[in-house]
This record gives sequence, structure tokens and C-alpha cells, in this order.
Amino acid sequence: MRIDVVTLFPGIFSGPLQESILHLAQTRGLVEIRVVNLREFAEGRHRVTDDYPFGGGGGMILKPEPLFRAVETLRGPGARVILLCPQGRAFTQAVAQELAKAEHLILLAGRYEGVDERVREALVDDEVSIGDYVLTGGELPALVVMDAVVRLLPGVLGDATAPARDSFAGGLLDYPQYTRPAEFRGLRVPEVLLSGDHRRIAAWRRVRALWRTVERRPDLLRHADLTEEEQRLIDEFRRGGRPPEP
Ligand code: ADE
Repeated sequence: MRIDVVTLFPGIFSGPLQESILHLAQTRGLVEIRVVNLREFAEGRHRVTDDYPFGGGGGMILKPEPLFRAVETLRGPGARVILLCPQGRAFTQAVAQELAKAEHLILLAGRYEGVDERVREALVDDEVSIGDYVLTGGELPALVVMDAVVRLLPGVLGDATAPARDSFAGGLLDYPQYTRPAEFRGLRVPEVLLSGDHRRIAAWRRVRALWRTVERRPDLLRHADLTEEEQRLIDEFRRGGRPPEP
């Protein structure tokens, strides 16, 4: 996969792209990420990239010409052009999975008060928001999208089954995890996890994932894949029931 990210602030990306999984994925050749400075596509002595809004009102708007020029230079067949902005569709694990299938993503990080609407009308394929809050620009959202997408690419995570176990992957939050020591400051790891009985462990984890989702994110249950027995358990949790102690 190739990802180009177009920004006025390339320095924001240097730390995150040079650490951990995002860095490893690049050095292994599993993804090629290029940070492109929008200013290089602006013309004139001052390379102006923004201007006042027609009709008045405060703030500065990103001009269309540099963004069109940047995308037209970078775009090849199979590219998806995505604008990061608060007005976009909500970024979820399902959207990450969808984007992970693309050959080439071009991420446009918006700035200031917004972008000229013609960028939406005639340049981008998609608009994505990472949540209902306003950041100073699309750079951090672009990093969020890259992180979530790159870890799904084949070969990026050492454990190929990891994405399937993620929170949200099956429509539920993740189950609780423990590691050594088995007892820490009087807090014990649930006995079942030490039992070596993989069927009981799987059943315990499923029940705990259901309980946690009922308690914290009941909205997710509408799209979860559940058996009749699980639906019955959920109804019990909703009435205040607790999972049995192992
Ligand atoms: N730019 C500013 N805020 C944003 C958000 N929440 N998501 C995506 N891009 C943004």
C-alpha cells in the first residue's frame, strides 16, 4: 500500500512515523508513506495556500489550486482521495478495514477554518472525521487513520490473528487481559485464565466482553453478532445481573 499525506505541517508526522509499528511497516516495505508539503504546490513568490472567505466571516480557508495540483500530481489509478475534516463520516474500525483494501490513499489534512468547497465537490472521494470534536487541523486525524489502517495490512502485526481479536472487530469491546504476576498487591488474576482449559477461557472471555460492552458501550450491541444465549445474557446484564465469578 502507498499512503500520501498532504499537509502544511510535515513536521507533525516525523515522530509518529518513525516509531513502533508504523516505522516497522515502512522499513519492511509493507507500506510506503510519503509526507507531502502542500506549500510546494502553491504558486507565486509567497506560495500562499489560504485566503479570506467570500461573503465575509472570520478565519482562513484553504485555497483550491494547491490542493488540486497536489492531488493531480500524486494520483494514479486506484488512488482514494480522503479529506480529514469534522464534517466527514465517522471513522470506525469498519472504515479502517475498508480503507486497508485500497492500493493507494491520499490523505488531505485540512487546516484553518476549512477548505474551499470545490475541493469537496470535485477532488475528494471521501471525507472522514475521527470524532465529534474540532482539532486545529487534519494532521492528527491523518495519523490516526494511518495507524488504524496500517496495522491491518497483512504482515504488519507479528500475530496475524490480532486484528480479529480487536475491540470492535466482532462488534464488542475487548475482554479483560492479565499478565504475570498471578497476584499483585492482593489482586488476583481470575482463576480460569490460569486453568489451561481453553474452552472455559474462551467462554469466560466472551461473557466478559459482552458484560463490558453492556456496561460501557451498549450502542455497539445493535450491530454485534450474537447467539440467542448471548442475547439472553445481555438482557440479564441490562437488568443489573453480573457474570458468575470463575
Ligand atoms: N480536523 C479538525 N477536526 C477534525 C476531526 N475531528 N476529524 C477529522 N479532521 C479534523
